[in-house]
Amino acid sequence: MALLIKRPNGTEDVTPKNIAKWHTVEHVVKEVASCYGFKEIRIPTFENTELFQRSVGETTDVVQKEMYSVIAKETKFTLRPEGTAGTIRAMLQNGMLNDAMPQKAYYILSCFRHERPQAGRLREFHQFGLEMAGSAKPSADADIISLAYEIIKTLGIKNTELKINSIGCPECRAEYHKALKGFFENRKSDLCETCLSRLDKNPMRILDCKSPVCSEIAKDAPVILDFLCEECSEHFNKLKGYLDNLGIIYTVDPTIVRGLDYYTKTVFEFVTTDIGAQGTICGGGRYDGLIQELGGHPTPALGFAMGLERLILTMENQGIEFDTEDSCTLYIAPMDEAAVPEAMKLAHTLRKDGFWVEYDTVGRSLKSQMKYSDKIKAKFTMVFGENEINSKIAKLKNMKTGEELEIKLDDDFSSKFLDITVDGMFSGILSDL
Ligand code: HAM
Repeated sequence: MALLIKRPNGTEDVTPKNIAKWHTVEHVVKEVASCYGFKEIRIPTFENTELFQRSVGETTDVVQKEMYSVIAKETKFTLRPEGTAGTIRAMLQNGMLNDAMPQKAYYILSCFRHERPQAGRLREFHQFGLEMAGSAKPSADADIISLAYEIIKTLGIKNTELKINSIGCPECRAEYHKALKGFFENRKSDLCETCLSRLDKNPMRILDCKSPVCSEIAKDAPVILDFLCEECSEHFNKLKGYLDNLGIIYTVDPTIVRGLDYYTKTVFEFVTTDIGAQGTICGGGRYDGLIQELGGHPTPALGFAMGLERLILTMENQGIEFDTEDSCTLYIAPMDEAAVPEAMKLAHTLRKDGFWVEYDTVGRSLKSQMKYSDKIKAKFTMVFGENEINSKIAKLKNMKTGEELEIKLDDDFSSKFLDITVDGMFSGILSDL
């Protein structure tokens, strides 16, 4: 077969065969987030482009190079490259920030960035993320870092390093910008074109440029930790104390500046070496100026996001078991076309009672129906023909033990079937027949 149209480069399909991996991760992130008081928020896949320009920042790689934007009816829209901007916009638009603080929300969503695809780096990828608005205290930073840590631990992921840094507030950053400008000014001739344009507007963005030459130059650049004001230093020291208090091991990495403009003070990443170059499985931090930037009252906020593909890839590479999905409870095999309507009715009744029941809908012979029921790992099978329909008695076969049992197809059938499938045995109901 020559496939006429393939999926776009940098996107992935998740087939039913692989969905258990996603369900395993989604289940854990939701469970852990709810223990910390987070509830789900759902936001649009696209937003007005201006939202990302104002929040993620005009001089970031994401806004300058990676956004998928369209002009529709003279309005510019962008497929969300991340979840923070839309979540904060939604919190503001829905009056959530007028309620008791902190406001907390988590999301699982697709994001779109036009990056060069490679292992762990996609153009459509999925994030689990969360945002907390209304606390300026470093205990809130510790709370969300411990949440991310707990998720990673619950998933069974090993070999990750938590890296933290503080990138200060606008005041201490002004001094830092001056120092950075001086540093890069002397190496101007080697910088890429994008970074040259960043030199005046936002020299910190040169630090996360993906060009090999710029990143080599950036290695010797001054670090923000040397420029923190008293308040930012104290915030960072308290956070470190809280993490020590929780027994969460971290390293201070002054090179972490994150690629998005809204961050202030704390930034952090969880990084693994088990999935190649794109090893950051979680990134986040504080963004105390964003809510005001988007038109709200000054409100401190913070959050993080994890790449679901990267979490799954790490788990696969580390040989971590995923939850196994349930299999079909009963496969009904009609002996011929005439038995199909009754088989269909029986399946319908059992399905209404919550059982996973299948019957032949493709016209297989009895022999290949039995092969198929084996393939889908049906726990029980029932051959169904004229005799069964007339006598209202059929044979139920336990596919694991080979044991067979005659069972009445009366009104009580569903509850008897429940007893059988819960126990996985036939004992106890023989006497009912
Ligand atoms: P980010 O670091 O850009 O932060 O993305 C968060 C995570 O998404 C990354 O750590 C990575 O696991 C995953 N990720 C990013 N880009 C890709 C890609 N192209 N392919 C696959 N996975 C990717 C944010 O998006 C912030 N909104 C996080 C945040 C929430 N900060 C505060 N609140």
